[in-house]
Amino acid sequence: MLTKEEVIERLNEVKDPFLHRTLQETGGIVEVIVKEEKQHISLKIAIGKLNTAEQMQLQQEIVNILKQAGVPTVGLRFVQLPDEVIEKFLPEPSGKPGLLSGKTKTKFLAIASGKGGVGKSTITVNTAVALARLGKKVGIIDADIYGFSVPDMMGVREKPTLDGNRIVPVERHGVQMISMGFFVEDNSPVVWRGPRLGKMLKSFFTEVEWGDLDYLLLDLPPGTGDMALSVHNLIPSSKELIITTPHPTAAFVAARAGQMAINTNHEILGVVENMAYFESEVTGEKEYVFGQGGGEKLADELDTSLIAQLPLGQPYEEEGSHASIYQEGHALATTYQKIASYIIEHF
Ligand SMILES: Nc1ncnc2c1ncn2[C@@H]1O[C@H](COP(=O)(O)OP(=O)(O)OP(=O)(O)O)[C@@H](O)[C@H]1O
Ligand SMILES: [Mg+2]
Repeated sequence: MLTKEEVIERLNEVKDPFLHRTLQETGGIVEVIVKEEKQHISLKIAIGKLNTAEQMQLQQEIVNILKQAGVPTVGLRFVQLPDEVIEKFLPEPSGKPGLLSGKTKTKFLAIASGKGGVGKSTITVNTAVALARLGKKVGIIDADIYGFSVPDMMGVREKPTLDGNRIVPVERHGVQMISMGFFVEDNSPVVWRGPRLGKMLKSFFTEVEWGDLDYLLLDLPPGTGDMALSVHNLIPSSKELIITTPHPTAAFVAARAGQMAINTNHEILGVVENMAYFESEVTGEKEYVFGQGGGEKLADELDTSLIAQLPLGQPYEEEGSHASIYQEGHALATTYQKIASYIIEHF
């Protein structure tokens, strides 16, 4: 009869048929019990996928190996490997490294703020379009699952399509995007909580056919709550733009979002101050309607640069659209080009 060690040695090189890794690599040999007196060996083997034809073949293979080594009877039980092990070894469907593997050239840029309503989504979509206008391949993940607004801001009515079981993102203004808004009916509220939301967000990275992106922008949910934290923890490594309005209190709140980025190992690329002032078209005079100095103060506090100050202003009205994209030639579009150039230069 074989000893336990001899059994393990003989089975170590057997491959998990689903993960295509050896049982030694996956830690699939869970239990080996040698019953000398009964001339019997019982095994517990963990594999990537249960109840498949491949499992039957694997069973045959293991039994044959042990019988050839002189074991009269073998008892074999299969269990499933833990999720995290499966995930680690799962081959990418397209054979390319996945976005979350940290092995792609795609750079992640998250747009964060302390408070809601300071212009994160507006800045995400316009920065993405500005990067695309400079020839970059750009995608947006609307990571604000409850408060999605990217499709509406981009003026998108259509939904993503499927290619096999991969989701093909919607493209507009040269930017690809995915949003929870594509998966709910008629702007109804999202009632999911907890793990389902996390799964949804993860599938935005792993089940969407993004192609070879240069930049993937993430419109984060506002603040430093659970959702923002779980997004921070999910993405491999990113740089962040922190958005604030010029009011010192807004900057004070935004500092916490900045701190959260740092705590979760995301580097701050810079601060953008939005709604910095209103410039009269008649007199050219600037009015600081929401106060002054918040962006500067925040950049100081986070030891980073104030990349831009965006004034108040609407895109030109275009018939039948409520899109939030500033047309080329608009004063704000020019400032967004500067933000995009800064990003390309520093990231
Ligand atoms: N510079 C600006 N000039 C005029 N309006 C602006 C400007 N920036 C943003 N807005 C408007 O302010 C509102 C809030 O902006 P936006 O939705 O981008 O903020 P947000 O930070 O993403 O909000 P939320 O936290 O709810 O996701 C929108 O109606 C947007 O059109
Ligand atoms: Mg938003």
